[in-house]
Amino acid sequence: MVRLTDDESAMRDGRDGAAVAKAMDLLIRYADALGAEDFVYTNNVAGVPGSSPQWVKDYYAEDGGDYRAVFSRFDLDSDEVVDVPRMNAFSCHLQGGMDPELWREQGMSEEAFVNFATDEREVADHGIQVLKTCTPYLAGNVPVMGEHCAWMESSAVVFCNSVIGGRTNCEGRESTSAAMLANRVPDWGFHKDDYRRAQHSIDVQVPVDTIREWGMLGYYTGSAVEDSIPMLDGSITAPTLIKHKHFGAAAASSGGVEMYHMVGVTPEAATRDHAFGGPEQGERFTYGQEERAAVYERLNSIGHSHDVDYVMLGCPHYSIDQIADAARMLEGRRVHENCALWIFTSRAVKATAVASGHEAILRKAGAILMTDTCSAISQAVPNGTKVAAFDSAKQVHYLPAMMGIEGWFGTTQDCIDAACTSRWQGRLN
Ligand code: F3S
Repeated sequence: MVRLTDDESAMRDGRDGAAVAKAMDLLIRYADALGAEDFVYTNNVAGVPGSSPQWVKDYYAEDGGDYRAVFSRFDLDSDEVVDVPRMNAFSCHLQGGMDPELWREQGMSEEAFVNFATDEREVADHGIQVLKTCTPYLAGNVPVMGEHCAWMESSAVVFCNSVIGGRTNCEGRESTSAAMLANRVPDWGFHKDDYRRAQHSIDVQVPVDTIREWGMLGYYTGSAVEDSIPMLDGSITAPTLIKHKHFGAAAASSGGVEMYHMVGVTPEAATRDHAFGGPEQGERFTYGQEERAAVYERLNSIGHSHDVDYVMLGCPHYSIDQIADAARMLEGRRVHENCALWIFTSRAVKATAVASGHEAILRKAGAILMTDTCSAISQAVPNGTKVAAFDSAKQVHYLPAMMGIEGWFGTTQDCIDAACTSRWQGRLN
């Protein structure tokens, strides 16, 4: 049984109101299921608190069918509906289901948009930051080294643990919503030093430079170590933030990697011994030319027709420098009439892209900069899409399978060229 401090007992017993008591009750059940002995304090929570499509509200029609009902019955797993106060922890909303302005282009109904807008008002009224992105660390939520967080979204979790040195498990909707009220998560998993040690190693024997190459290495890493913690060494040099973003997202998709170490690069891997917490152990995998070619082939195995009708960029959500790059590649060109180019980012980054002139260049070329969501989350692709192209190993892993379409994977330049010609011409080199 998890031990409770006096403060935690008081929360469970209703000192801070019914919703906090329900949140503590849920967290106690969660901690006991995990075998956690204590809770850890958190003041950084990222989830999707109370947001739901209309059919979820309809399911709780007898309870009122509103935000309060969904938050109580679904998020807090409560047997009764309680008043939901403003959140106590610093809390932010991750990606949602549609763009707040371009939802018609995404094929959403008026009814779905009204529901979305209502939820968003509730979220803001409950003191939650409306970041609406899978990259909160690019939009105003950057933890510090060692900070205990409660985050959902696999690509954000692996970034938080590995690159920043923040501490989070891959939480779910229920635990994040409860943590927003109670400022607690079970002291288990990635909150503990011992759990954060490397378990296997990857010897990288080929140069890894572009976003595509980092995505491929990430995809290989996840396939090799599955949900273990890898340590990478060999011929890698310190990747940029963006390359970490694509590496981690891919590793979390092909496996279930929630943390990785790169010797001399990531904060908890100054040396091999540091990464492993002692002598190296586990299996040693090799990433050479053969493995690289196999990953490329696998990521392109669902592409057959070279006639591309949709190019999707921005998984994980594009940073401002990626948008600037895309604008530079598109300037003076035009998206082909048989193709659509949608680029996804957060509202915060889009505002910067507008102010900096990148969005105007994209728009002039016929591309659309969208926020809040992505094709996989919203299951929205341009009408009639049959063949799509991506610069993200994560997105090509998910979207074609979800939507029953073909998919190609390559460099950002391959994708921009495909958007402008409607033909896929990417090659491994
Ligand atoms: Fe983000 Fe969608 Fe990719 S939510 S990580 S852009 S699948």
